[in-house]
Amino acid sequence: MADLPGNDAPYRLIDDVRFGEDVIVAPFTNLYGCAIGDETRIGPFVEIQRGATIGRRCKVQSHTFVCDGVTIEDEVFVGHNVVFINDKQPRATTDDGELQTAEDWELVPTIVERRASIGSGAIVLGGVRIGAGALVGAGAVVTRDVEPGTTVVGSPARAIARR
Ligand SMILES: CC(C)(COP(=O)(O)OP(=O)(O)OC[C@H]1O[C@@H](n2cnc3c(N)ncnc32)[C@H](O)[C@@H]1OP(=O)(O)O)[C@@H](O)C(=O)NCCC(=O)NCCS
Repeated sequence: MADLPGNDAPYRLIDDVRFGEDVIVAPFTNLYGCAIGDETRIGPFVEIQRGATIGRRCKVQSHTFVCDGVTIEDEVFVGHNVVFINDKQPRATTDDGELQTAEDWELVPTIVERRASIGSGAIVLGGVRIGAGALVGAGAVVTRDVEPGTTVVGSPARAIARR
């Protein structure tokens, strides 16, 4: 593992990230406290938070947000502007009106299994598993587990085909 990606580019914020070999990171990215596996490509305007893990030979396209608690296995495609969610009951403040801290909410983890693909604009609610080789259609809202090899579309996402 290395502290820097395999390429140089301007305007990147990279803090405490573990990179595998030959990771490519585009400009205008914000990556912190995460791990990114060998040969993965991260597009521009992507944010990957502390606690997220991205596997080997993945493609994460521009404008995607990967939050804490998300595990993306190897060879996964994540389209443009995909949003992962890890807090199902978000609140800015506690009952006392104080700003919430990490102790005041429950993180719900998500797993995207090997060779799955997530279409552009999809929203992935926390606490789901997207099975190996599954395909999430563009704009889908994933609220439940997706079986391996299944194509899902819509809001809430429903299966339309098996691959
Ligand atoms: C879901 C998807 C794989 C289906 O492709 P396909 O197998 O070629 O299916 P079709 O285009 O024949 O559509 C089948 C049906 O699903 C519907 N459909 C297709 N994609 C849909 C989507 N994203 N959301 C909702 N419905 C969708 C079609 O309208 C069609 O409905 P109908 O039978 O009532 O007419 C594809 O449309 C898709 O969304 N791919 C993701 C693309 C993407 O985001 N790429 C990333 C970066 S370029």
